[in-house]
Amino acid sequence: MYRELFLQAQAVREYAYAPYSHFRVGAALLTKDGVMYTGVNIENSSYPAGLCAERAAFASAISQGEKEFSAIAICGDADVCWPCGMCRQFMYEFAPDLTVVTGSDPDHLEIMDLSELLPNGFKLERTDI
Ligand code: THU
Repeated sequence: MYRELFLQAQAVREYAYAPYSHFRVGAALLTKDGVMYTGVNIENSSYPAGLCAERAAFASAISQGEKEFSAIAICGDADVCWPCGMCRQFMYEFAPDLTVVTGSDPDHLEIMDLSELLPNGFKLERTDI
């Protein structure tokens, strides 16, 4: 299953818009119901305005009404592509129990829980939303 998810991330990586870093990233996000959403990194002439593939995938899924996520696969132009700190916190908001999968070979993936990648993540506890 993680292999299929990773293959999707690898397939969409070619759509990345990364003219500045030339580091393309694809992500594939799996909901608890088994639906997959993809995203790529989208850079910008104003560098900080750029978006990582992981957040692009979450934005796509959440925009379709999805609320529960089980795993994300990330495929970058490197052996492994663990999510950046900003993405770890972004994902923690929606999926503190997320499984994160990366690598370059679909048959030798590395897998970690988001709770290991971001121990004691920050979350505001609100009851009015
Ligand atoms: N990037 C991602 O999309 N995901 C990651 O996990 C790491 C970094 C992007 C941001 C930027 O467009 C490029 O990779 C180089 O940092």
